[in-house]
Amino acid sequence: MSSIDTNKTKENESVSKVLVTGGAGYIGCHLIRILLERGCKVRVLDSFLFDQHSLDNLKDNPNLEIMVGDIRHMEELASSLEGVSSVIHLAGIVGDPACNLEKQVTLSINYEATRLLVDLCKYNNIKRLVFASTCSVYGARGEEILTEESPISPISLYAETKIRSEEILLKAANENSLEPVIVRFATVYGLSRRMRFDLVLNILTAKAVHEKKIRIYGGVQWRPLIHAKDAAAALMLCLEASGDVVCGEIFNAGSNQENYRIKDLEKIFVKLFPRINIEHVPPMNDERSYNVSFDKITSVLGFTPQETAKRGVKELKDSLLKGNFADYLADKYYNVKYLYK
Ligand SMILES: NC(=O)c1ccc[n+]([C@@H]2O[C@H](COP(=O)([O-])OP(=O)(O)OC[C@H]3O[C@@H](n4cnc5c(N)ncnc54)[C@H](O)[C@@H]3O)[C@@H](O)[C@H]2O)c1
Repeated sequence: MSSIDTNKTKENESVSKVLVTGGAGYIGCHLIRILLERGCKVRVLDSFLFDQHSLDNLKDNPNLEIMVGDIRHMEELASSLEGVSSVIHLAGIVGDPACNLEKQVTLSINYEATRLLVDLCKYNNIKRLVFASTCSVYGARGEEILTEESPISPISLYAETKIRSEEILLKAANENSLEPVIVRFATVYGLSRRMRFDLVLNILTAKAVHEKKIRIYGGVQWRPLIHAKDAAAALMLCLEASGDVVCGEIFNAGSNQENYRIKDLEKIFVKLFPRINIEHVPPMNDERSYNVSFDKITSVLGFTPQETAKRGVKELKDSLLKGNFADYLADKYYNVKYLYK
């Protein structure tokens, strides 16, 4: 992987392409594959913090350019936008614990770089800018069903940086030709070529396979779930929809049927692991709870997730039983552990 592959750049110069920041990440790997399958020309800008090989299976595709760089660096970000017509912005420090490690660094990556990206997109007359936000902007809520119109109440720096970024994007709607779209993801799960085990369903599955025992922390918190492949599909819809439909809009991305209380996840594990030992313990430093409506993304964009949490657990269980991710406790699968080093 070099910096920028100039031959490929020249070859594709006249054709517009999609820039994906953070395209080597957990969701990004699925998204890049889908974009290439659709015949899109794609450029990835990623600092490859976690996995140098997550795009190895795609790197020979002539429609893919991989640029190793940092979204905070003006020159790198500016050159990544050359010849680009749309941007999907995934890069960032992801998750509450990882964001709390170095607060200034988190702010500069998750917020200030978004501001820089918006300015550069306006300058370059980029049209579509799709931004990956999170349902954790809703904070610690009760039973109410939360829509995109509901008040937000972040309880972490991570969610705070997402809201501040959303504000910049919404303000820039229709400035020059910019059409920002915000996607607030449910908590993601499932297999990916850049695997994460710091996500609730993934770690429970790994523990169920390897230790035959899982711990349920608390249990009444609401946590909607979405498979990484479906998260990528939602981004595609936001990329491809007409500007009058999505410009300046926010979409919760998930499914009404996949809003779980943490304790309900237990039922999935009991079914798929009949001999499992389940321990109930008080919640640990994570008060987030949000019961979310996904009506808007379904009615406006026709989004229907293909996967369910149960199938996701089964898929990951099968993969683990084949011997994959035997090192599932390795730091590289946990954003906070890896960045702490
Ligand atoms: N996974 C989830 O449950 C979830 C839920 C809601 C929202 N999101 C959002 O979706 C996006 C992607 O999440 P993910 O799960 O794929 O995370 P990830 O950590 O796997 O991917 C993030 C990518 O960004 C890159 N990156 C980090 N800092 C960078 C920098 N300064 N310059 C360039 N690249 C940088 C990393 O190398 C990594 O490849 C994030 O914006 C995240 O906040 C994820």
